[in-house]
Amino acid sequence: MKVVTTVEELRGALKEERRRGKSIGFVPTMGYLHAGHLSLVNKAKETADVVVMSIFVNPTQFGPNEDYESYPRDFERDRRLAEEAGVDVLFHPPVSEIYPGDEILRIEVTRRVDVLCGKSRPGHFDGVATVLIKLFNIVQPDYAFFGLKDAQQVAVVEGLIRTLHIPVQLVPCETVREEDGLAMSSRNVRLNPDERKEAVHLNQALDAGVRLIESGERASAVVREAVRGHLERHLRLGEIDYVDVLTYPGLEAKETIDGRTIIAVAVRFKNARLIDNKIVDVH
Ligand code: PAF
Repeated sequence: MKVVTTVEELRGALKEERRRGKSIGFVPTMGYLHAGHLSLVNKAKETADVVVMSIFVNPTQFGPNEDYESYPRDFERDRRLAEEAGVDVLFHPPVSEIYPGDEILRIEVTRRVDVLCGKSRPGHFDGVATVLIKLFNIVQPDYAFFGLKDAQQVAVVEGLIRTLHIPVQLVPCETVREEDGLAMSSRNVRLNPDERKEAVHLNQALDAGVRLIESGERASAVVREAVRGHLERHLRLGEIDYVDVLTYPGLEAKETIDGRTIIAVAVRFKNARLIDNKIVDVH
């Protein structure tokens, strides 16, 4: 595995592969890798000839009072895990390489961001879109792999690629879960043992919502209140940030559930805010 830290080195590392007609799969991450990231690498290996992973904790997607400074980082461990998983090129740039400070424009995402995490993290998706446009231009991948745990991010990336005609195929990948159903996340390490036990209820609350839809319920409000009710009954340490039922990937509120639908939740614990969702097709 090649480890590169500059745009020039990255382009150099991919030049020969591109000349030989190899397809490039890209897995953008902020590091502190877990099985969820490694499943994206597996999918990338199945799909593309060369797998590039970026590890970059992107400052522009964190709000002023968020956890940019304390976001978990362990590059040596990440390097080992990426190599074991079969990454070919690991791009680990310093902030100054991606943001040299001479930007002349600002990216603003104007749809799909006034709900869910976008609502409680204003500007977050502007930062995500900014860094992804940069990374897509740097890597120029044929395929890009994103976990559906961040389903709003996948919806924004789908819109970004379509709106800017970026020549990359988005590959959304299923959420990887712990044995008890908790969605894998770099932030899970910040849960204390009692919070970790409670966190299983995000998945269970979502499953209760899915079961209701599967049994024929079509009123968004009823499903939303059932999911909220489950969380309220079981959370002592965590606080609900949001529970919502929306169209997917448009992320619009509809009274009646119809077509592809997302049930999404976010819960704040003392040192970690967890998100999870389920997407169901309703006909
Ligand atoms: O999902 C993430 O880890 C980040 O939002 C991403 C896509 C790497 C952009 O910084």
